[in-house]
Amino acid sequence: MPIPMVDLRAQYQRIQPDVDAAIRHVVETTQFVKGEDCTLFEQEFATWCGAASACGVANGTDALALALRAYGIGPGDEVVTVSNTFVATGEAILLVGARPVWVDVDEASFTLDPALVERAITPRTRLLLPVHLYGHPADMQPLLEIAARHGLPVLEDAAQAHGAELAGRRAGVLGHAACFSFYPGKNLGAYGDAGAVVSNDEAFIARVRQIANHGGGADKYDNVVLGTNSRLDTLQAAILRVKLRWLDRWNQERRERAAAYTAALADAPGVLCPRERPGARSAWHLYTIRVADRDGLQKHLASLGIATATHYPRPLHLQRAMATAGGKPGDVPVSEHLCREVVSLPLYPELPLADVKRIAGEVGAFCAQALARA
Ligand SMILES: Cc1ncc(COP(=O)(O)O)c(C=O)c1O
Repeated sequence: MPIPMVDLRAQYQRIQPDVDAAIRHVVETTQFVKGEDCTLFEQEFATWCGAASACGVANGTDALALALRAYGIGPGDEVVTVSNTFVATGEAILLVGARPVWVDVDEASFTLDPALVERAITPRTRLLLPVHLYGHPADMQPLLEIAARHGLPVLEDAAQAHGAELAGRRAGVLGHAACFSFYPGKNLGAYGDAGAVVSNDEAFIARVRQIANHGGGADKYDNVVLGTNSRLDTLQAAILRVKLRWLDRWNQERRERAAAYTAALADAPGVLCPRERPGARSAWHLYTIRVADRDGLQKHLASLGIATATHYPRPLHLQRAMATAGGKPGDVPVSEHLCREVVSLPLYPELPLADVKRIAGEVGAFCAQALARA
């Protein structure tokens, strides 16, 4: 039997009656835009994160761009972030007219290396944007200390990190604000595109909401600031409300599968498994290992019907679309090196533990043979 990276059909089968009823309710009440499910989801998701407030938006990329705009960031400004991330992180910065300043990641956690941040700060720096990559929280405490010294806000790119924790606090309240994606394959995924901005700063969330809804004032046709249309769709909010009730359980099931991989790969030669930094709890969005012959391993697993993915094959400072930000090979060597070695294995709550064992066995066997050939 082929093993996919994620199996959203298996997930749907667990929750079908509730999801179907939620969709039917929206259709029957015709509250397609700004329906009550939107407000309720925002409250429930903010509470789940431990935050005061949330604003649902159209997708995670918009969440980032809207948050940057709500912080007043635009042309001439710089945002310190990582190159080792999904394209949307850099895209959002460039879309608001600012410039991303690429900083390398810490090799152990794949996240923004606080030791390198201070030297990237200039008089134009307006914000720090760490990414909780693969669901593992960035090292926030030193980042917050640096940010405080320079009077900068810290915005979490938590698109992959629903439920990631540091010292018992969840993504969403680890910085000054956080952006989430509910892309279908995320730990909490919609049935289409959706996203949210979360913060304890209610005035900030009100600014995000205003920009996301045509910059409106007290009445619908009083447009106070230049906005856009990036509202969370009611159908998605209704589905997300159902799925949010499962999220703790699903995250626990992801954790168990990640632990099973780590145990089964313990003796695999030349395989580096992801580990949690002390005090950190990953949301285990992805289980991403490092191996020298990544491309060979992916080909081998594909021949056995086992899907894998590369997150990500090219760092953002070397993407043509980001050329205006400046960047050349060698600028962030750890990120560039990781891009050649990382491979994500299937991970989702319904993944049978027997499949985890089988995949780990195949990875171990391939790597042992590669070592013997070398
Ligand atoms: C790290 C990161 N940031 C931002 C985004 C953008 O989210 P969306 O796809 O909902 O626009 C994603 C989505 O994959 C992501 O992984």
